[in-house]
Amino acid sequence: MQTKPDTAPDAPAPDVPLVSVRNLKTWFEIRGGVLDRMLGRDAGTVKAVDDVTFDLARGEVLGLVGESGSGKSTLGRSLLGLVHATGGSASFEGQEVVGLDEPALRKLRSRMQMVFQDPHAALNPAMTIAQSVGHPLTIHGRLKGRDEIRAHVAKTLERVGLSPADTYMDKYPGDLSGGQKQRAVIARAIVLDPVLLVADEPVSMLDMSVRSKILKLMIDLKDQLGLTYLYITHDLASAKFFCDRIAILYLGKIVEIGEARALYAGPKHPYTEALLGAIPDPDPTRTIPRNLPRGEIPDAAKPPRGCAFHPRCPRAFAPCGWELRDLTPVLEARWAGMEEQAHLAERALIGEIPAEVMEGTTARLPAATPGGGADLLAMLERIRSEDPAEPFWTGIKEMRAEADHVAMEFHPALTPRLYAEGTTAAACHLLDPGLTHPRAAAAPVL
Ligand SMILES: Nc1ncnc2c1ncn2[C@@H]1O[C@H](COP(=O)(O)OP(=O)(O)OP(=O)(O)O)[C@@H](O)[C@H]1O
Ligand code: SF4
Ligand SMILES: [Mg+2]
Repeated sequence: MQTKPDTAPDAPAPDVPLVSVRNLKTWFEIRGGVLDRMLGRDAGTVKAVDDVTFDLARGEVLGLVGESGSGKSTLGRSLLGLVHATGGSASFEGQEVVGLDEPALRKLRSRMQMVFQDPHAALNPAMTIAQSVGHPLTIHGRLKGRDEIRAHVAKTLERVGLSPADTYMDKYPGDLSGGQKQRAVIARAIVLDPVLLVADEPVSMLDMSVRSKILKLMIDLKDQLGLTYLYITHDLASAKFFCDRIAILYLGKIVEIGEARALYAGPKHPYTEALLGAIPDPDPTRTIPRNLPRGEIPDAAKPPRGCAFHPRCPRAFAPCGWELRDLTPVLEARWAGMEEQAHLAERALIGEIPAEVMEGTTARLPAATPGGGADLLAMLERIRSEDPAEPFWTGIKEMRAEADHVAMEFHPALTPRLYAEGTTAAACHLLDPGLTHPRAAAAPVL
């Protein structure tokens, strides 16, 4: 069989990262409805990956963690050129991936492979396991003869624990359990001797009982074959034992990245802290804060300004990107806990709160009736005085009653950059020594 060269022909020195991602962007234009198109209206852009930068060293396992829709799969797929990045750079073994044409990408993909979440969908039900696992060898012209291919496939199946290989070679995916299928998918991914595996939630569709066995297999393979992993998961608990470093994604951006042990021991970003708080702790003597972020992940086509996490962040303050539409969940939460009469009386004073992203720092909150501006302002002042700890109010510089609306002046929205401390870095204004949190004394120190 053809042996894998130790390094690619134009490979950089070993201390150069295997993967180097700089300001990578993968944006999707959303096609609106028929009406949008007829009126020439822009339905928006989803910034699935937005200005992401990281390195991946040879032999390292980097976990990409985040809730659904945070851009994990898009980032993994952009690295392999399975979706085309909109901007920035992603180099693999020193070769730029962004902008490569399909033949060049196909060549590169023999050295970087993807393991998908769903092993049932990943294997062609009409092909035997030997055919599926051997397929990449044929496609890439690695081995010619049928016997040569079968022998290499058998060796690979043994490696992934499908042993004795003869028992599995001529079976169809439908004859295998979920765990066995995922082993076959992994066999297909390593059959070309790649150096990088992007594993996209490789165990999340498997029974609990086999998850740890598959992860253990992946660790063994990494050690035996010198692999490097980008491990995509929404599960911080599995990432803890599997990863050397972790990157936490939120709405397409890395909000925290660094050495796994340090990140678990001392999360710096409130989102990381909340995710960690959501992991059930097997040790009942340890108290873990259960401050799960309120609300859902926002619409990716209309992300919040400033720090995208601010509508859910318990520590958000003035510069975090407040805008008028953030008032809606604040009022909904308040009204949900009120008597119906009182709630309806408040609701009757306020017009429709705009749902659009705010531009600039000023906004008008319409009163429900002409001349209702003063009553609306009085209500807002009362709501603020009853719950002064609500972070939304930190974003407002000034409120003024006009005839039929309240004019609001917000603090300018600032987008946090990554602040490095020790072996981790987080994108949060709380880490900016130049900004002061209004409740600095009371707020837990990060
Ligand atoms: N081909 C596409 N066209 C338009 N939008 C897309 C496309 N692929 C992904 N998106 C959007 O990009 C965002 C990120 O999606 P992605 O699948 O990368 O998230 P994820 O973190 O992998 O989520 P999950 O945990 O659910 O797999 C989402 O808002 C998604 O709807
Ligand atoms: S910058 Fe920090 S404090 Fe502000 S909203 Fe984001 S995570 Fe919260
Ligand atoms: Mg995904």
